[in-house]
Amino acid sequence: MVAARITVNGKETPISPAAPHTTVLDFLRERGLTGTKEGCAEGECGACSVLVARPGVHRPTDWVAVNACLVPVAALDGQEVVTSEGLATVDASGTPAVLHPVQEEMAVRGGSQCGYCTPGFICSMASEYYRPDRCANAGPADGPGDSDGTNGTNGTNGTNGSDGSDGSEHGPNGFDLHALSGNLCRCTGYRPIRDAAFAVGMPAEDDPLARRREQSAPPPVATRYTQDDSAFLRPGTLADAVRLLRERPEAVVVAGSTDWGVEVNIRSRRAGCVVAVDRLPELRTLHTGSDHIEIGAAQTLTEIERRLDGAVPLLAELFPQFASRLIRNSATLGGNLGTGSPIGDSPPVLLALEATLVLADADGEREVPLSDYFTGYRQSVRRPGELIRAVRVPLPLSPVTAFHKIAKRRFDDISSVAVAFALDIEDGTVRKARIGLGGVAATPVRALATEAALEGRPWTAQTAEAAARVLRTEGTPMDDHRASAGYRSAMLGQSLLKLYARTTEAVSS
Ligand code: FES
Ligand code: FES
Repeated sequence: MVAARITVNGKETPISPAAPHTTVLDFLRERGLTGTKEGCAEGECGACSVLVARPGVHRPTDWVAVNACLVPVAALDGQEVVTSEGLATVDASGTPAVLHPVQEEMAVRGGSQCGYCTPGFICSMASEYYRPDRCANAGPADGPGDSDGTNGTNGTNGTNGSDGSDGSEHGPNGFDLHALSGNLCRCTGYRPIRDAAFAVGMPAEDDPLARRREQSAPPPVATRYTQDDSAFLRPGTLADAVRLLRERPEAVVVAGSTDWGVEVNIRSRRAGCVVAVDRLPELRTLHTGSDHIEIGAAQTLTEIERRLDGAVPLLAELFPQFASRLIRNSATLGGNLGTGSPIGDSPPVLLALEATLVLADADGEREVPLSDYFTGYRQSVRRPGELIRAVRVPLPLSPVTAFHKIAKRRFDDISSVAVAFALDIEDGTVRKARIGLGGVAATPVRALATEAALEGRPWTAQTAEAAARVLRTEGTPMDDHRASAGYRSAMLGQSLLKLYARTTEAVSS
């Protein structure tokens, strides 16, 4: 087997002697690439952002920004990474001679003060700069005047951007500010950073990273990276993976590593064996059949969002509220369901959509309704050695949907309560109601009593108010540092009243 190696800023580098749990961040910094910073080490600040060449949604390759603090460097065996140092054009001595356009705009618009966050912002901005479909909604980006007259990043709009109510905030150059939702700055303030983002133009024809998008991304490499008594293993096929998991049922299974990376960094957890499943081709499918949409469990949330392109409105409403773009670039539905967290964002939505899970092991596959999947706090019917291969969303979709995430911050936060609705309303009567809840019990749950209180009844204020009273009694919410039990219950009822108000607004407008 070829020794594990990674290409950083065009230079191939052996991964050894890094330990299997070493993060990309530590690997880069130990080799002098100290532009990549550590702020939080848990995926919340973006100071560690770097670019990775990934199979593209619209072109052969996308430059995807990820949190280097969460990803084991062994997971990037055979892959290409670009850091902030690799964006500028350097002269023969290695000194940056010409800044990259996003670096130039950040510099001239005062987007950096202490500079600690800046390389991370630069990499996230560069990823958005190279997003192929940014061109589709881009207007002329010929200077600072384009972004003048806009008023902040708190949901207000750019000159031809949206008002943010749908979660999008695009500048006149098509730049989606959500590309920066995982990057925090403590001292500059966000307006100069936003001005820089909205001022960048389109990549030049001879831009090497733009041209790189036209060739295939590096394929996944079957990796067996071991050191002492620990190993990072990347099987090449699903059959290899389930065979391996049968032999090593104690192995930690990772996809985007957005959860496991936090365990390693913050709780100092180590595993004798980590098995990566994020590039298994059998988990990377996405197709629409006659009666369901099947989403491979290892598609990243960004890939699903861009590939579905609004085809499942409830998922489209979920994605902007799920962590940050940096996290969504790595996180997967399989991972979010596999951890079994009661406050994961996707389970309430998938419960409302009546999703099923396709579980695979060495004996074959079985399909389990998500409503039967969770059995207790972080527990599920998934057996040792079993993988989530895919999530199936049945068709047709209910037409009235909403996802309400109640959290202390609008983006990049953990929910106190999350509620997802999917209703069929015909001739003014609720024919079917499916409601998924997060944050009110040891597991994500369906609001079965509320569903029963709605079905067969006229969609009126009286029905909504009566059902909201029932919804306030669902689950067993608890007091913790995020919210009190009383607040959580109150928010459940408000959520249904909000849905009713929105649907009647839509009818009367
Ligand atoms: Fe904060 Fe990585 S160091 S997100
Ligand atoms: Fe200091 Fe952003 S410039 S943290």
